[in-house]
Amino acid sequence: MTGPWEKDPQFEGRRQAARDRLQEIEAKTGKDSDARDAFFNAVYEQAEGDAAAVPWADLAPKEQLIQWLDANGGLDLSALDIACGLGDNAEALAAAGYRTTAFDLAEDAIAWARKRFPDSKVDYRRANLFHPPEEWFGAFDVVNECYTLQALPPEMLEQTAAAIAGFVAPDGRLLVYTRTRPDGTFIDGPPWPLEEGSLRMFERYGFAKESETPFTIDRSDGVIPHSFAVWRKF
Ligand SMILES: C[S@@+](CC[C@H](N)C(=O)[O-])C[C@H]1O[C@@H](n2cnc3c(N)ncnc32)[C@H](O)[C@@H]1O
Repeated sequence: MTGPWEKDPQFEGRRQAARDRLQEIEAKTGKDSDARDAFFNAVYEQAEGDAAAVPWADLAPKEQLIQWLDANGGLDLSALDIACGLGDNAEALAAAGYRTTAFDLAEDAIAWARKRFPDSKVDYRRANLFHPPEEWFGAFDVVNECYTLQALPPEMLEQTAAAIAGFVAPDGRLLVYTRTRPDGTFIDGPPWPLEEGSLRMFERYGFAKESETPFTIDRSDGVIPHSFAVWRKF
């Protein structure tokens, strides 16, 4: 993947410093819903416009999403990007032809995404996953979820999955991009990679799995197992 890493030799150093600093903050603060909200708001605010300080910001859409979009253009379909951060995945959905809405809890993330993509066709909105506009229920042909399920405490996993699943229209698709861990293993997050088997929870919300691609991301601090899965709503 090309990105700021190539153009800005100091980027990786600042990214690692941010990871270390944020890990310390996360170790000291609570892991409940309010603490996580405060944490995410603080990350974007304290970054002061430096994307290196937002650890999950690749400044590029995810490769697996791009591959899926290459084969599944939007025509006149609608898409929702969950917890969109700085907007790269939302922009990819819009570029593939989807009428795209993207939202995040953090006002600063939404302002930043709008600033990065001033001519964007994406409707960027500040919204909370757990208190969304009513008209979003069952309204989207494609819902893209990337790294939100793993970012909230395991006690909230069912609630988070239910909220995400609720946006998908009948016969729509739900795309889920997440870190994974073997079933039955404990993890002291955040983040909390999903147990491989737990992704099947979407079956309880009326979805059938269309495809799943396990893959790894190699980073200087280790090899990180991931999954990209596509679910179809009945
Ligand atoms: C790990 S980041 C992933 C961001 C983006 N999806 C990406 O892949 O770059 C998790 C995002 O979820 C957002 N978030 C956390 N809780 C949320 C909630 N209840 N409603 C909306 N967004 C939320 C955070 O502000 C943050 O941008």
